[in-house]
Amino acid sequence: MSIDRIRHAGLREKVMSAEAAAEFVKNGMNLAITGFTGAGYPKALPTAIANKAKALHAQGEKFSIGMVTGASTAPECDGVLAEANAVHFRSPFQSDPTLRNGINAGNIAYQDMHLSHVEQQMRQGFYGKFDIAIVEATAITENGELVFAMGIGHGAEAVKNADKVIIEINEALAEGLEGMHDIYADVGLPPHRKPIPIVGAFDRIGTPALALDPNKVVAIVLTNGGDRNSKFAEPDDVSKRIAAQVIDFLDHEVKAGRLPKSLLPLQSGVGNVANAVMAGLLDAPFEDLTGYTEVLQDGMLDLILAKKMKTASATALSFSPDALQRFNENIEFLKDKIILRPMEISNNPEIIRRLGVIGMNSMIEADIYGNVNSTHVMGTRMMNGIGGSGDFTRNGFFSFYVSPSTAKGGAISAIVPMVSHHDHTEHDVMFIVTEQGMADLRGKAPKDRAKLIIENCSHPDYRDMLRDYYDRALVASQKAGGIHTPHILLEALSWHQRFVETGDMRIK
Ligand code: COA
Repeated sequence: MSIDRIRHAGLREKVMSAEAAAEFVKNGMNLAITGFTGAGYPKALPTAIANKAKALHAQGEKFSIGMVTGASTAPECDGVLAEANAVHFRSPFQSDPTLRNGINAGNIAYQDMHLSHVEQQMRQGFYGKFDIAIVEATAITENGELVFAMGIGHGAEAVKNADKVIIEINEALAEGLEGMHDIYADVGLPPHRKPIPIVGAFDRIGTPALALDPNKVVAIVLTNGGDRNSKFAEPDDVSKRIAAQVIDFLDHEVKAGRLPKSLLPLQSGVGNVANAVMAGLLDAPFEDLTGYTEVLQDGMLDLILAKKMKTASATALSFSPDALQRFNENIEFLKDKIILRPMEISNNPEIIRRLGVIGMNSMIEADIYGNVNSTHVMGTRMMNGIGGSGDFTRNGFFSFYVSPSTAKGGAISAIVPMVSHHDHTEHDVMFIVTEQGMADLRGKAPKDRAKLIIENCSHPDYRDMLRDYYDRALVASQKAGGIHTPHILLEALSWHQRFVETGDMRIK
């Protein structure tokens, strides 16, 4: 029974229905809601809030909330609230189609930023006061401490920061999750910060549960529902070719003595390609791998189960239904091999730099100089957000960007003259990998990078167009007075414009 998971007698009295708990949420409120890449989000309350919004709208009354989550949630959280027109502000990462449409239609103000900054900005008060934190949990201990669910994200800061707290206790979560979390919510603000004492990727520095002020808890809702658990696409030929190149390169670095045989802690971004790289590591010649990442997907779980990876640290477990079953069945084995941390710790620049994390993220497009766009389609339409990719790209020991060389059946080139939106600059990105090949940009000036990216990474359908652009840009830039980074300014974004007008970047 879910109620048995509330081991603090006083807090049991706060149990109520989701509808009753939704009555605490008023028009215009600012909510901190847990959830990170489809894990750890509340399952019942968002629908109750959405229904309340719809009923009020039907009576001609206003109702909308501002919501700050850890990262993306799911249709039954972001989706239902967006569908009910109940959200006026949302931050940070999201991936729900209905919410995304609301953002791109201009109905929802969306702030996209580095995940490592979220809790700091909550503390600084840039989002305003948080009226309520809504938090998913596995259990509440005898002492009234909160045991988080499959994702922590910003949950610890949310509980500390908000005036009131509503907790969803989810019976579907494995009780064995208790003990996996490591809550360190002591980062503070300058000038009083101290070093975060993680020197190895698996160091525990906090507590397994978060101390709660029981007086702040206004409602507890009992639920029984699974996380988003989207299925990953089986790695296709393109993803396998991308993965093989990353792995060959890492092997080469090991043989050259520049990396240990166990590599360095791995970060893997969201999406199918990133998951395929992890899957490829199963047959790679490395042993005793470690993970220091924000989201732990199927690929990394299978590396741990296969004993190829010793330990992994993350802020959320984001599995397909099959992987969730493997996780639950092996939870006792996994308990001392997985740590879940607040996202301020999993994405912390200080720690990522100290550990020398190998960051691997997917992109929407890269330009011929190595600037990367992770977030915007054709420069204006938000896809998902930057997530933690920037934290790992700027601070990692290696930063890979992987993508198929084309999108939308070949109508879009992932390698363009100039990115239509800059998320990661040429100063941070080290490797671009497509199924065509890889460009190692380290130690290279812009013109050398351009040649490598065009020749190694672009799709043959676009290679001559890129060569032509670059050759003409050299001449045009000479006239403009500087050929350090050649461009034809009026033409640099013409590929995107052509796609917007004709549905194809290729010249017909
Ligand atoms: N132009 C337009 N659309 C593009 C594109 C481009 N250059 N490149 C990819 N896409 C589209 C694909 O067509 C696909 O669209 P669909 O959903 O309509 O089929 C979608 O983007 C996803 O592409 P896919 O190739 O399946 O890659 P993915 O699942 O690995 O996702 C990102 C790629 C960039 C969208 C995803 O990795 C992301 O959101 N990254 C930013 C955040 C991040 O890196 N976080 C890491 C730590 S949490």
